[in-house]
Amino acid sequence: MNIELIDLQPAVADLVQLVWDGLQHQPRQLPAWLLYDAEGSRLFSQICEQPEYSLTRTEIALLEKHADDIANTAGSGVVVEFGIGNARKVDPLLAKIQPPAFVALDISRSALEQSLAGLATSHPSTAMVGICCDHSSLTDLPDHPRLNGQRRIGFFPGSSLGNFLHDDAVRVLRQFRQLLAGGPLLLGLDQPRDPIALEAAYDDAAGVSAAFARNLLCRLNKDLQGTIDPQQFQYQATWQDAEQRIEMALVSACEQTIDLAGETWTFQANERMITEHSVKYSPAAAADLAAQSGWCIKQRWHDCDDSFSLHWLEPAD
Ligand SMILES: C[S@@+](CC[C@H](N)C(=O)[O-])C[C@H]1O[C@@H](n2cnc3c(N)ncnc32)[C@H](O)[C@@H]1O
Repeated sequence: MNIELIDLQPAVADLVQLVWDGLQHQPRQLPAWLLYDAEGSRLFSQICEQPEYSLTRTEIALLEKHADDIANTAGSGVVVEFGIGNARKVDPLLAKIQPPAFVALDISRSALEQSLAGLATSHPSTAMVGICCDHSSLTDLPDHPRLNGQRRIGFFPGSSLGNFLHDDAVRVLRQFRQLLAGGPLLLGLDQPRDPIALEAAYDDAAGVSAAFARNLLCRLNKDLQGTIDPQQFQYQATWQDAEQRIEMALVSACEQTIDLAGETWTFQANERMITEHSVKYSPAAAADLAAQSGWCIKQRWHDCDDSFSLHWLEPAD
């Protein structure tokens, strides 16, 4: 098959340092990408199927409805997706744009392998390149014959930018501008709406979101020889109106100590460890963010409730 995988995953020593930094932070907070080992990727796919989590269905419907318009706006070039996950969204774009190559970035190696294998079958004339990396700290795409000299068309769906708080979101968008070397970016963003519906979307009745968050603790046990009992942490998803975001956290059920990579950490009862944020962007907030990051929004496609938008960004100068 026409697939190549480049492994730029952070080393274990970097992972240890990240976790140490996050546990020392007040409140404790770990980078969201740690949620996505193989099991985390599997659970995230299940979250997308939950009745409360409408984001995936809404974005896929928008992409299918506007695929011709988006492809005409995009023109030709190599498509670069940030955080491909289970590849449910890029299919209509690849079908219409028919790029010579598709470059998928994801921190989850299993997600990359499975997604690119599926796409290679349905798009045999497009070369598939996977880069397993933390895209928030990547300053250049690897030197690669499939990329060199090609115009780049970026795709960042799933409202994944919402995982970053304001300063980091600006930094990441600036970095993507650099990675795309003058090319455009199609950015999917979820908008603020009824807080009860949003909290339910991130804490579904079937408990899949809670299992996804607790899997982070299993991952730490596995990768950093930890002793955490995931059942001693409760999951919470809370809408924070002033910040226009959902904050997801694991809350310690009691005073307890945990060991990780040879260090001991004490959690007080009810102490929170933030696992993830999901910042929501109104069209005006998205335009502000784009302007601060060196981008200009040229077009917007949205659903009939105006709850989710696809934005077409071009470099501002
Ligand atoms: C919220 S999911 C979205 C998946 C897919 N794009 C969608 O819209 O359904 C985020 C995806 O990005 C990946 N991811 C999260 N943070 C990342 C990072 N910093 N660098 C690379 N991949 C990341 C995860 O492994 C996961 O597949």
